[in-house]
Amino acid sequence: MGALLEANNLYKTYRMGKVRVPVLRGASITLEAGEVVAVLGKSGSGKSTMMHILGGLDTPDKASSDNAASTVMFEGNELGRMSGAELDRYRARRVGFVFQFYHLLPELTVLENALLPAMAARGRVKYTHERTELRARATELLSSFGLGERLKHRPAELSGGERQRVAIARALINRPDLLLADEPTGNLDEVTGAGILDALLAHRSEAGCTMFIVTHDPKVAQRADRVVHLRDGVVVPEGQPEAV
Ligand SMILES: Nc1ncnc2c1ncn2[C@@H]1O[C@H](COP(=O)(O)OP(=O)(O)OP(=O)(O)O)[C@@H](O)[C@H]1O
Ligand SMILES: [Mg+2]
Repeated sequence: MGALLEANNLYKTYRMGKVRVPVLRGASITLEAGEVVAVLGKSGSGKSTMMHILGGLDTPDKASSDNAASTVMFEGNELGRMSGAELDRYRARRVGFVFQFYHLLPELTVLENALLPAMAARGRVKYTHERTELRARATELLSSFGLGERLKHRPAELSGGERQRVAIARALINRPDLLLADEPTGNLDEVTGAGILDALLAHRSEAGCTMFIVTHDPKVAQRADRVVHLRDGVVVPEGQPEAV
């Protein structure tokens, strides 16, 4: 199988007034189809920034005198050249996102939150048509994450770890080809975290999903196919010594 996603030479600098904060400085990564990659790096090293760029939620800097062009290719198509509608489709149908801070909608129930990407990807008419199956799938996913008794709760009535699990179920509802997960076990105790990891890896073998998992959790890193570090704005493979 070939590469599902190839990011080359990503640059991203934030500007805070007159101060420039360079975050990504030529970061590159290739994700082979079906591969699980754990991404480690210090707080502030740009892990979330990179994940958002890979998912088409943020854009890398344009080429300038300081840096060459940054590109993200998904199945050979460059995100930067897609139309708005194509990019929407990519985000809604091909990618599943688990955000670091969950981003659940407070006014929706657990079940409705998990179903949101299914609605976004289908539109109202198609969604209504498939609603029964989709609700069954969402219920099954949530139950597999131990939330079967929480379907009608609102996010504010859940613990941090429960919210995190809703976010994971939501990311998987559309059977994405690419899962981008930001600290998916960050708020879970060891046993629950291991269970979630089992569920994610089972999903990988069932649906062939490629995973980019930002983590500080050594257990996640241990079970990934490959570990990389984000350091000084670039991606380095595990085991490469720190520059002195
Ligand atoms: N919208 C923004 N505007 C300005 N600076 C930003 C913005 N988003 C991120 N940054 C800065 O970019 C750097 C990288 O942030 P990012 O969230 O990608 O780090 P991270 O590796 O995910 O960290 P953590 O492990 O703490 O989640 C940080 O120094 C942050 O302050
Ligand atoms: Mg982060």
